[in-house]
Amino acid sequence: MLRASASFHPRSKPLSLVNTLRIAMSRRSHTRSPSPRAPKRSKIDHLTKEDFKNGVFLAPMVRSGALPTRLFALKHGANLVWGPEIVDKAILHAERVVDPVTGVVSYNGKSKAIFTTHPIEKPYYIFQIGSADPDLAVQAARTIMQDISGIDLNCGCPKPFSTHAGMGAALLTNPDLLCSILTALRAAMPPEITVTAKIRLLPSQEDTLKLVERIVNTGVSALTVHCRTRSMRDKDAALVGRLREIVEFVEKMGKGIAVIENGDCTGAEDAKRIRELTGAHSVMIARAAESNPSCFSPKPLIDVEKTLSPAYIRLAQYLGNNWSLTKFCVSQFKAQHITFGKTLQKQYREALHAAKGFDSALDELVGSWTGEEDFKEIVQVIEARGPRLRLLDDDESEYAPSPPMLFTPPDTTNPEPPSSGAPLILLRRLRLQLLFLHRFGIVQQCGEEGGKEPTS
Ligand SMILES: Cc1cc2nc3c(=O)[nH]c(=O)nc-3n(C[C@H](O)[C@H](O)[C@H](O)COP(=O)(O)O)c2cc1C
Repeated sequence: MLRASASFHPRSKPLSLVNTLRIAMSRRSHTRSPSPRAPKRSKIDHLTKEDFKNGVFLAPMVRSGALPTRLFALKHGANLVWGPEIVDKAILHAERVVDPVTGVVSYNGKSKAIFTTHPIEKPYYIFQIGSADPDLAVQAARTIMQDISGIDLNCGCPKPFSTHAGMGAALLTNPDLLCSILTALRAAMPPEITVTAKIRLLPSQEDTLKLVERIVNTGVSALTVHCRTRSMRDKDAALVGRLREIVEFVEKMGKGIAVIENGDCTGAEDAKRIRELTGAHSVMIARAAESNPSCFSPKPLIDVEKTLSPAYIRLAQYLGNNWSLTKFCVSQFKAQHITFGKTLQKQYREALHAAKGFDSALDELVGSWTGEEDFKEIVQVIEARGPRLRLLDDDESEYAPSPPMLFTPPDTTNPEPPSSGAPLILLRRLRLQLLFLHRFGIVQQCGEEGGKEPTS
């Protein structure tokens, strides 16, 4: 265990990282004299409005946006990932369970997992909620906030199961309710959790702009516009030509909010074209990522049977992903067939179809079952992005973390008990925080006198 430096604790009693940080933070005000001009404030690894700019994001997708898909997307370049919509009531009574080996966090309902995540995706993970009630939305958000970085309100789903309860696209015609949910979420969430919304276009541009103005005024950090109206189907071309005016309108409001384009983007390269066409700050991809979750890379995996599917299945198996969900996601892959000719493709499909689980019937497809290696590779790629340590300007100070931001909220369980054997992701980030504090002269660097490298 990492120990506080001797100067803080003369008896060298071992302290937890959390306590070390708490002491460091509380000492800060005593040991440093205030400078005459307010210094730029420090930001430690959580999302701000800026993180919604210049990005390509994975869209929320029920079923298809499962945990392995999101990790794949992150590995291959997605800047942020939205999870599938989950209705507020569904999460309220779920039981939070942490897998001690993989670190996977599941919120389990009576018969199945309602929501599954992993700490490695937390800095990039936006939880999408379906709601038609501000109180329920807030309760649901509080239930899962320790495992997410942002919460997004679904205001665009046109499916009857969503709209009949006043959720999804039904909110587009009930802007009072829509905005009251966003306002309630913003008020209830700590500053380090962003609140965003995803809408569709309204039939008239004028009504769309009015709605956008109200949403931006609720304090959201970003707004995604799916460039289709409620009555349009996915096969109808997205009305991207309407977006530029919306982007300019939001920019004129001067709140620094990103407008995220959604609709018909095919991948990393195409996102550039769409941004140029629309002026959007970022682009969000759904179906192209469902077909190939590596489409965020300039060099996506293109050989379905050789690279994409085996790696996905191995990862899903390691993470304990539900088999039928895995099978569904793999069956959506539509990249090229390079190595496998027609006959082999047929055999491949049949083997996948016949498999009842992650069993030996799949051996020929996936190669050796080393999903752990696939996972480690993903962890390495994501961790190489490093923490989002930045200096904040004064007008961004609303985003300064409420201290200390990586601590588990009160009355909740720590996602990774020290003995869990789960990957050392949070420990590593806590160490980075210590290094950060050290840089500012607040605490001595770990590894110095009395300190040891953290171990599991
Ligand atoms: C399988 C699937 C599931 C979806 N689930 C959601 C959802 O949970 N929440 C949501 O806001 N949109 C959902 N959508 C809509 C997408 O997020 C996106 O708005 C739409 O597909 C347009 O983007 P695209 O043209 O890139 O596919 C879903 C789309 C698909 C294909």
